[in-house]
Amino acid sequence: MILLILRFLLLIWPARTEIAESANTALPGCSDSCGGVAIPYPFGIGPNCSMSEVFEVSCNTINRSSTPYWGDFVVLDINLSLGQVRTSIPISYQCYNSKTKEVEDSDWWLSVDPPFRYDHERNKFVVIGCDTLAFVNFINDQNSYLGGCVSGCGSLESLTDGSCSGIGCCETSIPAGTNNITFWFDDKYNNSDVYSFSPCSYAMLVEEGGFHFNTGYITTSQLKDQNVSVVIDWVVGNTTCNAARTSKSYACKSKYSNCSDSNSGPGYVCNCSDGYQGNPYLQGGCICLSLSLLLALSL
Ligand SMILES: *[C@@H]1O[C@H](CO)[C@@H](O)[C@H](O)[C@H]1NC(C)=O
Ligand SMILES: *[C@@H]1O[C@H](CO)[C@@H](O)[C@H](O)[C@H]1NC(C)=O
Ligand SMILES: *[C@@H]1O[C@H](CO)[C@@H](O)[C@H](O)[C@H]1NC(C)=O
Ligand SMILES: *[C@@H]1O[C@H](CO)[C@@H](O)[C@H](O)[C@H]1NC(C)=O
Ligand SMILES: *[C@@H]1O[C@H](CO)[C@@H](O)[C@H](O)[C@H]1NC(C)=O
Ligand SMILES: *[C@@H]1O[C@H](CO)[C@@H](O)[C@H](O)[C@H]1NC(C)=O
Ligand SMILES: *[C@@H]1O[C@H](CO)[C@@H](O)[C@H](O)[C@H]1NC(C)=O
Ligand SMILES: *[C@@H]1O[C@H](CO)[C@@H](O)[C@H](O)[C@H]1NC(C)=O
Ligand SMILES: *[C@@H]1O[C@H](CO)[C@@H](O)[C@H](O)[C@H]1NC(C)=O
Repeated sequence: MILLILRFLLLIWPARTEIAESANTALPGCSDSCGGVAIPYPFGIGPNCSMSEVFEVSCNTINRSSTPYWGDFVVLDINLSLGQVRTSIPISYQCYNSKTKEVEDSDWWLSVDPPFRYDHERNKFVVIGCDTLAFVNFINDQNSYLGGCVSGCGSLESLTDGSCSGIGCCETSIPAGTNNITFWFDDKYNNSDVYSFSPCSYAMLVEEGGFHFNTGYITTSQLKDQNVSVVIDWVVGNTTCNAARTSKSYACKSKYSNCSDSNSGPGYVCNCSDGYQGNPYLQGGCICLSLSLLLALSL
């Protein structure tokens, strides 16, 4: 009987320590969330809690509620298996002031440093307006691509909510690996002809599904000073999985993890193997799905 119990304990013991470790998806001694947002390793809050400085997050407390920031960007969430972080960025605008006959605008550029890049499958460049021509320059490691978006409308009746095909709204996709986006409005298209019903034009980088065109956006200035969500990809390392597996800095630390090459440029991400879940970047981070369920029930 005692032998049986011992055997049972032996079986369960390593699993329990794995559970204890996996309950925390951050490095030991580091906080694993901020303001209700999970911050799993390779990200980390404060110095020495992340894989490298580029993954460092700060937890800012304003009016007793905390918000995680990655550089100047708000962190909405982090998805480990996809290698993505979602953030929020401002919409830019160009408005015509009929009294002064002047154009007020907010051209911008957006930029992230390696190992980050704007996700080319989930984000779109969207332009809103009835007298609008916007140019955009996408830059990645190798190339720069000039794109544009034209949006016009003769009257409000021609607009359709939810449709973004050149009438009041135009969208274009972004190239893989983009890490710098420079954007400007052509000032010959400045809403001076249509200001009576459409004073402003807007442009934004936004995640698919993060924005739905609405006729009200044309007739009001409600989009001015608003933020939209954007998906940023990250990788660990700058080589392929095959090269990384034999290196000392291989980031997939869990025994039950595997590596997958990024489809947007150099580098790789780690994933827990089939049947396991948790954090592949930590030793003991991936735990068996059925075992974790069993133990959770027995605790
Ligand atoms: C972070 O680690 C470095 C090197 O190990 C050490 O010198 C430094 O004091 C640590 N910083 C903090 C805040 O723990
Ligand atoms: C913090 O609270 C003050 C007073 O209630 C308010 O005026 C201010 O806008 C708040 N700041 C933020 C960032 O919520
Ligand atoms: C808009 O996005 C910027 C950049 O992430 C951030 O600093 C700012 O706090 C955001 N504003 C709001 C209202 O979320
Ligand atoms: C990450 O994305 C995958 C695929 O969309 C989803 O199944 C998973 O729940 C996401 N994880 C988190 C923590 O959001
Ligand atoms: C991680 O594994 C899940 C499930 O097998 C898969 O859907 C996902 O695409 C993987 N992530 C990457 C970046 O390969
Ligand atoms: C992004 O590209 C613009 C235009 O090419 C350039 O002026 C800017 O310095 C770049 N930003 C970074 C951080 O490289
Ligand atoms: C606005 O566009 C019109 C027509 O292209 C042009 O004549 C006018 O100079 C522009 N106004 C400003 C302030 O740029
Ligand atoms: C790849 O990463 C290593 C280690 O961080 C660095 O020394 C090297 O310069 C990087 N190579 C490239 C091409 O970025
Ligand atoms: C990792 O993925 C490769 C390629 O998909 C596969 O051949 C290998 O068996 C996997 N290794 C583990 C430990 O799951």
